[in-house]
Amino acid sequence: MGLTGQDATLFRMTIGSIQLPERPLLLAPMEDVSDPPFRILCKRYGADVLYTEFISSGGLSYGAEGSVRKLDFYEQERPLGIQIFGGEIEQVREATRIVDAAGPDLIDINFGCPVKKVVCKDGGAGILRNLPKMQAITAAVIEEATRPVTVKTRLGWNDESIQIIEVARMLEETGIAALAVHARTRSQMYKGEARWEWLRRIKEEGVRDIPFFGNGDAYNPERIKAMFDETGVDGVMIGRGAIGNPWVFRDARAYLDTGEVPDPPSWDERVGVVAEHLQLKCEWLGERTGVLEMRRMYGGYFKGLRNASKLRMLLMEQGEMDGVLEVLLNFREDEPTVQVAVREAVKPARLPATVAAKLSRPRREAAEAWHA
Ligand SMILES: Cc1cc2nc3c(=O)[nH]c(=O)nc-3n(C[C@H](O)[C@H](O)[C@H](O)COP(=O)(O)O)c2cc1C
Repeated sequence: MGLTGQDATLFRMTIGSIQLPERPLLLAPMEDVSDPPFRILCKRYGADVLYTEFISSGGLSYGAEGSVRKLDFYEQERPLGIQIFGGEIEQVREATRIVDAAGPDLIDINFGCPVKKVVCKDGGAGILRNLPKMQAITAAVIEEATRPVTVKTRLGWNDESIQIIEVARMLEETGIAALAVHARTRSQMYKGEARWEWLRRIKEEGVRDIPFFGNGDAYNPERIKAMFDETGVDGVMIGRGAIGNPWVFRDARAYLDTGEVPDPPSWDERVGVVAEHLQLKCEWLGERTGVLEMRRMYGGYFKGLRNASKLRMLLMEQGEMDGVLEVLLNFREDEPTVQVAVREAVKPARLPATVAAKLSRPRREAAEAWHA
């Protein structure tokens, strides 16, 4: 007997054994953005599923340090998907075994990256030109994985060759547990508008029994709700709208539930989250790299606020965590001279055990000293 009504809804909102809430909000995989510190903040503000940035299957199979490091995650991030890419089947197989051993909740295959050096080796969106190979890679990952396998892709290679309805059916028949589609072709890169009309078609004519997530230009609560309403997708995956704005998940959830968007975070809350993001990055990557990597985040965090460019300039000048914190905590949109004692103001009560467990000994000692 087929499932009907509520049962059918419950059934559809499961990825393997992962139960999803109604209208789930997912954090998109984003290279150099979706690392553990950023993901944990998005989780706090309501992201229902998190994904790592994409990881090269070649890098993993050769044991490249940079690739292996990207497998790290905090336990509190679950449910978490680790995303891999690659166009060489045996390498992808090997990478799947490595990813599987890292213990994520699901493994996601990237069939959407538009970058030349990836697509030319049949990785990312490159595989949209070779659907039999796309099926073979998917089948290989499913065969090796002991957990659900999902796919994220684009509409097609270019306008002339969109076959996403057939692709969705083929992938579901091959055995994937959920599908996410960025509603642009590879040729579009990130240009033009995402074509949500295709999301509706994929939902209606492509996938049958697996959850289908829409992606592309759902960057604020209104747009996120509109994607649900206009396309009927089961979940919305949010990328750029979350950069410097982990609150987007909280705001979208409130808007979906009540029709009201909460007030934006206060200055203190915003600064507190930036400070925490910085600290987590420094604990994760070491102070030097953490401070450097964090520079890419300030634009998003302070966008549209008074004196934002002045603040950004001051932050960019700092090479050490304490210097950045000093600037952050002493800067007021309207009163730039208030003095706040850095350590008392931002230091979390203790170093989270899950963070400590991930650190090398010297880094852990430094972090413990900071928290003491
Ligand atoms: C900085 C950046 C890095 C990205 N890295 C990845 C990636 O590693 N894997 C992936 O599947 N998509 C990646 N994407 C694409 C996003 O996941 C998403 O599909 C795209 O940004 C459209 O969604 P949005 O309009 O909500 O941003 C990246 C996008 C950006 C902006």
